[in-house]
Amino acid sequence: MQRISIIEEIKELKIEKNAVILAHCYQNIEIDEVADFVGDSLFLSQQAAITNADIIVFAGVYFMAETAKILSPDKKVLLPRLESGCLMADMINLKELRNFKSQYPSSPVVCYVNSTAEIKAESDICCTSANAVEIVKSLSSNKILFVPDRGLGTYVASQLSNKEIISYYGYCPTHMRILPNDITDMKNKYPDAEVMAHPECHMEVIKIADYVGSTSGIIKRAKTSSSKRFIIATENGVVERLRRDIKDKEFILATDKAVCENMKWNTLEDILHSLKTETPEINVPEDIREKAYTSISRMLAIHV
Ligand code: 13P
Ligand code: SF4
Repeated sequence: MQRISIIEEIKELKIEKNAVILAHCYQNIEIDEVADFVGDSLFLSQQAAITNADIIVFAGVYFMAETAKILSPDKKVLLPRLESGCLMADMINLKELRNFKSQYPSSPVVCYVNSTAEIKAESDICCTSANAVEIVKSLSSNKILFVPDRGLGTYVASQLSNKEIISYYGYCPTHMRILPNDITDMKNKYPDAEVMAHPECHMEVIKIADYVGSTSGIIKRAKTSSSKRFIIATENGVVERLRRDIKDKEFILATDKAVCENMKWNTLEDILHSLKTETPEINVPEDIREKAYTSISRMLAIHV
């Protein structure tokens, strides 16, 4: 089937079925042509919470579709490729979280949105990379448990001197592939370039970055900064979109190894098939959903 006709068919089905397509910036860029909203985890979860659509097709990874279902239980939520998991989210399970909590019984748990519904349900409040500092700051306790990402947890700790953050040991394999040497090599080649890094990166990368932020933060900074050249330390989908959208600036990948394979499963064909068959559908048991909803809505109440 021709690409153009796939796009047309997806668009027609979206209208017919009152469906909305949410796409993360790490997706294959062709998906933007059919997406209603493209953005980072926070933005997409906000859209999932307010949409009037009957069907949400999530072009992203499993935890994102699960989050959409938690926020919009009456909608049908589809994840076109069920195998699109997040390796970091799978690094902690309920038993491990309970064990972690039992070591620090009076400390609240902040969970990164890159986690399963069960983990969100067992945590006090959720955060994304766009609001993690703000969320941790909002808690009255000085000692906070942070799961599952030690990268983001360490970054947040570096920004808040009055909080002790005990991070779990999870990490993002994609961002860990960006090495400090990659940045210094590129910086030697392009000394005028501004370095921007996602907080899931190694602390050594973060320390030499000029700007640290979530996907939306990096995109915003690229637009507003007076720099003309940037070295980008995050998943390469962000760089592809920056190059497409900001033509008068240059965006250099810190390394071509920062590709999240799970984010790249989805194709236009998969989205079409998913919309046609209304599968695979993502569901969350109601008792878990209600508790996970509390932890996500606490976050959304602080950072709308
Ligand atoms: P953000 O969308 O919050 O920037 O997070 C990046 C990520 O790794 C998504 O899985
Ligand atoms: Fe998970 Fe990392 Fe992929 Fe994001 S980039 S979905 S954190 S494995």
